[in-house]
Amino acid sequence: MRIRIATDPGALACAGADLVAAVLRERPDAVLGLPTGDTPIGLYDELQRRVEAGAVDLSRAVGWAIDEFSGVPRAAPGTNSVFYRAHVRLPLRALQIPNPAARDPAAHIAAFADALRRAGGFDLCILGIGMNGHIAFNEPGSARDSRARVVTLAAGSRAAHAADFGGVERVPARALTLGIADLLGARRLLVLASGRAKAAIVRVAVVGPVKAEVPASWLQQHDDCTWLLDQEAAAELQGRSLSGDAG
Ligand code: GLP
Repeated sequence: MRIRIATDPGALACAGADLVAAVLRERPDAVLGLPTGDTPIGLYDELQRRVEAGAVDLSRAVGWAIDEFSGVPRAAPGTNSVFYRAHVRLPLRALQIPNPAARDPAAHIAAFADALRRAGGFDLCILGIGMNGHIAFNEPGSARDSRARVVTLAAGSRAAHAADFGGVERVPARALTLGIADLLGARRLLVLASGRAKAAIVRVAVVGPVKAEVPASWLQQHDDCTWLLDQEAAAELQGRSLSGDAG
C-alpha cells in the first residue's frame, strides 16, 4: 500500500488526476470506478479542466458507479444519479449507474456487477472512505468475499446524507453496492480522504488490524492500492514511516 500526502485538497485533486491520466495513457479505454461524496469533486473538476485543455482524453473510457441508494426514483434529490449529473460532467464513452428504483434490487445489482466483469473489471477504481470505514456502501461487518448486494445503511451513513435528501427520514434505509471482493478485483485502487474528521478512521484502516468491522482495512490486502490524503486526513499517521509526497 502506498500513502501519498498532498499539502491541501487542491494538490490532492491534481495528484489524483495525474494518476487517472497515467492509467488512461496506458489504456485509453480504461474501465474506471467513480465514487460519489464530497472528496472526489475536486478531482472530477480537475479532470474536466484537463479534458478542456486537451491534456486528457476520456472519450474511450467508461465510468462505473460503485454504489447507489435503493427504493427511490433516479431523479430524487440525494441519489448518486443526481450527484453524477451535477459533478461528473466528463465526456466519458459511457457512465453506468445502478437504478435506485429497480423492482428487484438484488437481481439488479448482481447483474450490474456481472456486466462490469464482462467489461473486463476495473483498471482503476477510485474510492472514498466513510466515517465508519465503509467503502462504497460496504458497511462495518462486510466480509472479504462479499459481492454486489443490497445493504442496510448504518445510522451514521444515513445521517451523513440527510442534507442531500432533505432530512434524515428521507434517506433510504437501503442501498445497492459492489462488494469488497468486487472492489479488491480492481487492478489498481486509489483511495481519497481529506479533512481532519477522517484522520482517525484513516489511521485505523491503514495501520490497524484487517477486519470486517473496518471495511476499508481490507484494502491492505490489495497489491496496488494508493491512499491519497491531504495533510489533515493524514494527521494521525504523521511520524510513521510513510512513502511519497504528492506536493
Ligand atoms: C458515501 C459513498 C462512499 C463515499 C463516502 C464518503 O457514503 N457511498 O462511496 O466514499 O460517502 O463521502 P465523502 O467524500 O463525502 O466523505
